[in-house]
Amino acid sequence: MTLNSIGLDTKKTKALADDLNQLLANFQLYYQNLRGIHWNIKGRAFFDLHVKFEELYTDANLKVDEIAERILTLGATPLHTFEDYTKAAKVPVGKNISKDEKAVELIVESLSELLKIERSILEAAGEANDEGTNSMMSDFITEQEKTVWMMKAWLGETV
Ligand SMILES: [Fe+2]
Repeated sequence: MTLNSIGLDTKKTKALADDLNQLLANFQLYYQNLRGIHWNIKGRAFFDLHVKFEELYTDANLKVDEIAERILTLGATPLHTFEDYTKAAKVPVGKNISKDEKAVELIVESLSELLKIERSILEAAGEANDEGTNSMMSDFITEQEKTVWMMKAWLGETV
């Protein structure tokens, strides 16, 4: 086993960086979904949701940067073109969504996909002894699960 300069198995680290790139790509789609609904939302809930979606995309923007910089820390290059992002898409792409329920459902569906990717990275990071990636995934998962609960509550549903 070859170790890199941060003490992680080179081969496992490469695989983890690839997985993180998949997460990065899907996070960018989630971010763009949030911009879309922030701009296009209509109806009586406009003022609430317009602000809430901005709060969420600001948070997603920070996380995108954290993921990209983790990939660099692991010695790889973060994906950075729209072409690569759309190729990796698992998160649904929302277009022309202006109805409040559809917008909130898009968030739930997007986060469900991100959570799947993050859980698989969490497992791989554990096996690779990569505490940095592991704790990042734990934080993301905890926060996103809470957001899903809140969005589902807004829809009048349970998780
Ligand atoms: Fe705005």
